Amino acid sequence: MELSSLKESRSMSIQDSLKIVPKGEIALLEWDLFGEKVNKLSSPMMARLKEVVAEIKGSSYKAVVLISRKPKIFIAGADIDEIQSINSREEFTDLLTQAHDILNALEDLPLVTVAAIHGACLGGGCELVLCCDYRICSDASETKIGLPEVKLGIIPGFGGCVRMPRTIGLPNSLDIMLAGKAVDGRKAEKIGLVDACVPALQLEERALALAQEKMNGGKRRKVYRPRGAVDKFMHSMIGRPIVFTQARKTVLKESRGFYPAPLKALEVVKQTFGYSNRDKAIKTEMLGFIEVATTEVSKNLINLFFMMESVKKQTGVESKDVKPRAVKHIAVLGAGTMGGGIAQLSADKGYHVRMKDINNEALALGFRHASEIFGKAVKRKRLTKYDFEQKMALISGTLDYSGFKQMDVVIEAIVEDMGIKKKVIADTVQHCHPDTIIATNTSSLSVTEMAEAHPKPENFVGMHFFNPVDKMPLVEVIRGPKTSDETTATIFDLSKKMGKIPVVVKDGPGFLVNRLLMPYMIEAMFLFQDGMAVEVVDRWYTHKFGMPMGPFRLMDEVGLDVCIKVVKIFAKSLGSRIEVPSVIEPMYNSKRLGKKGGRGFYLYDAKGKELSVDKSVYADLGLGQPTNKLTEQECLERGVFTMVNEAALALVEDRIVTSPQDVDMAMIMGMGFPPFRGGLLKYADSVGSQYIAQELEVYASKCGARLKPTQPLLNMAKTNRKFYA
Ligand SMILES: NC(=O)c1ccc[n+]([C@@H]2O[C@H](COP(=O)([O-])OP(=O)(O)OC[C@H]3O[C@@H](n4cnc5c(N)ncnc54)[C@H](O)[C@@H]3O)[C@@H](O)[C@H]2O)c1
Repeated sequence: MELSSLKESRSMSIQDSLKIVPKGEIALLEWDLFGEKVNKLSSPMMARLKEVVAEIKGSSYKAVVLISRKPKIFIAGADIDEIQSINSREEFTDLLTQAHDILNALEDLPLVTVAAIHGACLGGGCELVLCCDYRICSDASETKIGLPEVKLGIIPGFGGCVRMPRTIGLPNSLDIMLAGKAVDGRKAEKIGLVDACVPALQLEERALALAQEKMNGGKRRKVYRPRGAVDKFMHSMIGRPIVFTQARKTVLKESRGFYPAPLKALEVVKQTFGYSNRDKAIKTEMLGFIEVATTEVSKNLINLFFMMESVKKQTGVESKDVKPRAVKHIAVLGAGTMGGGIAQLSADKGYHVRMKDINNEALALGFRHASEIFGKAVKRKRLTKYDFEQKMALISGTLDYSGFKQMDVVIEAIVEDMGIKKKVIADTVQHCHPDTIIATNTSSLSVTEMAEAHPKPENFVGMHFFNPVDKMPLVEVIRGPKTSDETTATIFDLSKKMGKIPVVVKDGPGFLVNRLLMPYMIEAMFLFQDGMAVEVVDRWYTHKFGMPMGPFRLMDEVGLDVCIKVVKIFAKSLGSRIEVPSVIEPMYNSKRLGKKGGRGFYLYDAKGKELSVDKSVYADLGLGQPTNKLTEQECLERGVFTMVNEAALALVEDRIVTSPQDVDMAMIMGMGFPPFRGGLLKYADSVGSQYIAQELEVYASKCGARLKPTQPLLNMAKTNRKFYA
């Protein structure tokens, strides 16, 4: 195609993406971004909106109804690719100034404007509908209206900080904006974000009728009117500072000050609430936006967003010809902590799932586990009682292999014992059809060795969920040397359909996440032996580095018995890189199990709530009272750099995963590595391989050979090379 005709066809497609369909005196504005699954407010679409607004302004129409022709999306937001590609304040100023000119023109149209919302109406999409006089939405589950910007380290920048509080008042808008939330249609109606919530099939008709009804009554500028005494107080001159102070406290508690965006959004709302000069208010928002959008935190969070988007498009295998098999029926072997969780998740996603265990009591525990999780969702009104019954009805239980002939996938989650697992796998195969995939959820055993029990090892794979299954987003899909592409692609696809983020990992000790976690936990034990107090180290890791919990709290959560077992397994397989801390033996003898036993480094009540550090833990493990002589820098560097060191080996030499993105995604989703740091290796790049290797040399000479920089890290350090090219 020639360049001129290519340009012409592009401009045609943009015109088709947003077009005016006359409906008598009403202009129906249809959004359907050409060639994309979602509508977004990219620069070309904003330019097209400008044209359309100008055309309508000069027309004889009396009302406008905005509607999307995408099945599940109204407008998903601004174009994040564009935001990511911008680096300078000037470019942001240009982009935002143009956007505001267009949105202000929409708001100022002399005719009545109605947004008919079905599907996701997020970020820029939500900000756009706030420029309309009326909003009406569908009650479908896919309708979500909100401002998720802070999750990307930015604040609403298309007028959301200014217009949302004006429309729905302070508490509700802060609730949405500061947590990056979205609300469904019913809630949107309740808080006044929309004027009505109607069945999806009636949306267009009702929006047109609303436009018809209002078009002769003139424009409406909705300004929130507080309802009731408390609400009135919160919006009064005396009440507002209290609302802002409380909101700031909550943000600081949740973000520990690591995320600047919610605080900035709060500051903008505080400065602009009740504004009389729109341009001034918008300018304040723009300056706030630019300040946070140019931070490293925002770049890291946007990068993480793209990594997650890219997983959606991946198949887990290189060949484009391999297709995942359809999965309808799943069996889970073992109805314990993990098996019960996997059964609940499978049912939640609509799969028929059959749990098999060795006795009725164990099966009952599995059912109870699932029912408790669904029950909590009912309590929180996220699930109806009817849905609860429907989902529970998808789970069945058995003590034999009845029903296994129709299974597409069997997930093994029985005790962590190679002999038992191999025997059970060999038995299971006898009762399934020849193509059934068997996936093991082992956390530390060799998938390669386990596959020997399967007559068709190409149908055998690892599917490593993390505990608790319903909450932890990562699944490691572990390929043994004989696992087929089709099996890998099927489990990768199934993990995605279960709402998880899969990362394909080569078989090897600890796979990826546990392999990197183990040296970190071991280092924490050495810090403990070196006289550091549990709460001091944990606090530095949470409050200074940003981990969701410190290493001691994490070990309690995992179970000290499990930690001890895994340290021993690792010491065998990884040799001199693992030095077994001397506290391991007394820890084993002290019978401290961690949270599940009520006592580990911390004490817990019967419900598992953390009470305090167990002061007797030092003496019990053969140590004196803590002296706390090490610096914060040393404590953090020894723990984090040892993970970087192991990651260099796992990625560069052992090729456990194929990219630094895989490591970062797995560490954020699997251990909660702070997302604002972009992941372990993004963080390592920001510090520099040279510095990390030098520091490790120093710590190795002082503390032991386990901390020596690995060869791949030393190679990188020669030229201060980064993990990300
Ligand atoms: N608990 C975790 O944090 C975690 C995390 C990831 C992976 N894993 C792995 O998941 C697997 C299960 O761990 P868990 O914590 O759920 O254990 P669990 O002890 O809670 O449950 C194991 C269940 O398997 C049943 N079982 C034992 N032998 C069986 C057999 N022959 N046939 C059927 N059922 C049998 C037991 O009765 C029990 O109900 C292990 O391989 C473990 O390494 C555990």
